[in-house]
Amino acid sequence: MQRTQVAIIGAGPTGLMLGALLFKAGIHSVILERCSDEQILERNWSGILEPSSIELIAASGVPTRLKQEGVDQQGFWIGVHGRRHRVDLKALTGHTVVSYGQSDLTADLMGARAAAGLLTHYSVEQLSIQELDGRHPTLRYQKQGQSCELQCEFVAGCDGFHGVSRASIPSRAYRTFERMYPFGWLGILADAAPVQDELVYAHHARGFAMCSMRGRKQLRCFLQCNLSDKLTQWTDELVWGELRQRLDPETAAQLQPGPILERSIAPVRSFVAEPLRHGRMFLAGDAAHVVPLTSPKGLNLALSDVSLLSQALVRYFRHHDEQGLDSYSEQVLQQVWRAQRFSWHLTRLLHSFPDQHGFDQRIQQAELEHLTRSATAQAALAESYVTL
Ligand code: APR
Repeated sequence: MQRTQVAIIGAGPTGLMLGALLFKAGIHSVILERCSDEQILERNWSGILEPSSIELIAASGVPTRLKQEGVDQQGFWIGVHGRRHRVDLKALTGHTVVSYGQSDLTADLMGARAAAGLLTHYSVEQLSIQELDGRHPTLRYQKQGQSCELQCEFVAGCDGFHGVSRASIPSRAYRTFERMYPFGWLGILADAAPVQDELVYAHHARGFAMCSMRGRKQLRCFLQCNLSDKLTQWTDELVWGELRQRLDPETAAQLQPGPILERSIAPVRSFVAEPLRHGRMFLAGDAAHVVPLTSPKGLNLALSDVSLLSQALVRYFRHHDEQGLDSYSEQVLQQVWRAQRFSWHLTRLLHSFPDQHGFDQRIQQAELEHLTRSATAQAALAESYVTL
């Protein structure tokens, strides 16, 4: 049987960053991941990093291509029925955010982990967690047809929304809070130039749209769609046509359609599990909470979770002090609900709700108008946008 101090389930950005922070502090970890390393590297997810996340990445000591490939975002644009307004993050808060692929960060973390000779078991199957309430939880799994066991002192559940960690907690031991929105998001990645250096959001009667980028050369866009839509309905022609209609004319004029490399439809959800500790297991990242992609909080929350969790584990292993572990859930949840409030607000403000008529629709218009006119409203939005 293998042994480690911390068994990490999931090699997404959450699990890999936790592994990097623990390694820096001299704490041993093993990562167990369901997918192969090639499958993880094939993911093409974008990301926006807040100043605190950039500091954490620097503090982790992991070499990244952030300086060369990150695109500094001094502001973002909101199009409202064809007119666009800029929210100047730098002027309003003194801070900027950086667009850097979540997949690039994952690749950087995987590379650093492999270079340091740290153990990650990819392609593990049928993972189950035993004895979470005891001193030595055990993880059982199959790898290449062999039954394996890993004994640890703590388990970090970093295996995303559909993972096994949260599902292993008895349902009476935690509560979930969830909001499913009455629409989905069609996401595309295209071999086409980004419309500009900054993110563009659009509120339109036909539905929300957003344009961002993967590096400086690829365009990533999202379109509000029906949950029942099939990918085959969304032909290239329809995607570019809808973008042109929903974006303000100036941004639409910058669109240069190119081959669509990826397209997917995902539900839009807000989700929180409470508490984030069960016995010797701690949940972090998407296993613990999900925010709609309307706000760039998901990756930043995940990094903040593992920053707190690594500090708590360091205190425990160095000083036998359990205080950080005891307060982990409460500390994380405070940030999570702040981010949930903001993400819910932005989602509600920018989408077209099929069940919203009359009074509610007028209030949404009044709120958007208030935002475009009021420097105070923009400052409040900008503050929540750049910080957790
Ligand atoms: N066993 C082992 N690994 C698993 C299992 C399982 N049963 N289930 C899931 N995993 C793995 C997945 O294959 C994935 O690689 O856990 C990893 C979880 O990674 P993510 O889903 O990327 O979650 P996380 O690392 O928390 O990243 C949070 O991702 O979705 C975005 O907006 C979100 O930016 C945030 C970030």
